[in-house]
Amino acid sequence: MDRRELIQSLATAAAASLAAGGAEESAQAQAKSQPPAQSEGKPAAPAPGAQPVNLHEFEALARKRITRMAYDYIAGGGADEVTLRRNRESFDQIRLKPRVLRDVSKLDARTELLGQAFDFPILLAPTAYHKLVHAEGEIATARGAAAAQATLTVSSFATVAIEKIAASTKGPLWFQLYCQPDREFTRDLIHRAEAAGCKALVVTVDTPVGPVRDREARVKFELPKGMEMENLRGLVAKTGADDRRHMRMYSAVLDPTLTWDTVNWIRAQTKVPVILKGILAPEDARQAAESGAAAIIVSNHGARNLDTSPATIEALPRAAEAVQGRVPLLMDGGVRRGTDVMKALALGASAVLIGRPYLWGLGSYGADGVAQVVNMLRTEFEVAMALCGVTSVGQINREVLWQ
Ligand code: FNR
Repeated sequence: MDRRELIQSLATAAAASLAAGGAEESAQAQAKSQPPAQSEGKPAAPAPGAQPVNLHEFEALARKRITRMAYDYIAGGGADEVTLRRNRESFDQIRLKPRVLRDVSKLDARTELLGQAFDFPILLAPTAYHKLVHAEGEIATARGAAAAQATLTVSSFATVAIEKIAASTKGPLWFQLYCQPDREFTRDLIHRAEAAGCKALVVTVDTPVGPVRDREARVKFELPKGMEMENLRGLVAKTGADDRRHMRMYSAVLDPTLTWDTVNWIRAQTKVPVILKGILAPEDARQAAESGAAAIIVSNHGARNLDTSPATIEALPRAAEAVQGRVPLLMDGGVRRGTDVMKALALGASAVLIGRPYLWGLGSYGADGVAQVVNMLRTEFEVAMALCGVTSVGQINREVLWQ
């Protein structure tokens, strides 16, 4: 679906739901028959038969289509989910400044990062286990990402091997690395990702141990039979870990001994840019910039790790100040609206990533749902550009904020 078709389908969906008695009433009727999706305090699935009109509605739709275990695994955050709520609330508290009479007839959302051209500054964050929500797993995600011209970051914990994903798509891929205690295996994995054509290596540094996640514990999350972390095939057998028992598995395939020296070692194994993902503290951002990281992803892992840590949009300006433009900053966590993308760019990010939203798209409509989610967010971002009176990404700075 191209963007014009998407806009048309949104208009048709809105008209259909009005014809059915109004979106609000339908949503209310639906709310009576089942509890609404409230994981981020946002309401209601689209009316029966209607298309989602925003990313929140994709969540509610996916919730009806995927298993309870998959839903809770994806939606959940760390412990009491204080940070999960805060990721969203902090975005909502920032106000944008509308500007008028600035000829916004030509909008250019393109950007360049690490030598790669992007049509718009939105990428897909690494998320584990796509087969939980779609039979084709990461293959379908990659198809959707390519259709929307978005870069997909493939997780170390993908349920399809990186070689198979790369062979199935012409779209740009990055690879996310969980450095393994087995360094030989890690080196091979880096080389596999590079050989498969991944343009960057995203090293996740915020998960040295398995976090506290009550929702996962409550549903006794484990990978269903027949699904496995294909990138790590062989490793799990070697370590003796049971790859279906999530929390046990986590400790087997994460390395709590990681240090800045390990990052240097990783950088020496590859020619592609090494990006550090999962930095919040300004001190760590500064050290990352000094230690040769090509870029930093300011991230709290979608609020899934250390509960009561700040929202990423709160941490971003401090990281930007610490880094002083020496390396590009990306950010993720709670991006659900085009206005959120605008705010992140205004506060120092070169681009944002989304995690849960495209999984909701995948669970709702497969590859097409992934593309719809990306196109929707992109369109919303372009609308926000126009209404803030900026026509290119380079013009976005703190001036677009109401402060
Ligand atoms: C993640 N995230 C993640 N990060 C990572 O580096 N490797 C991984 O395998 C995963 N797996 C994963 C699974 C699921 C279900 C979620 C929701 C998240 C974190 C992810 O890359 C990203 O930081 C967040 O998802 C961004 O926040 P939002 O957009 O989900 O709010």
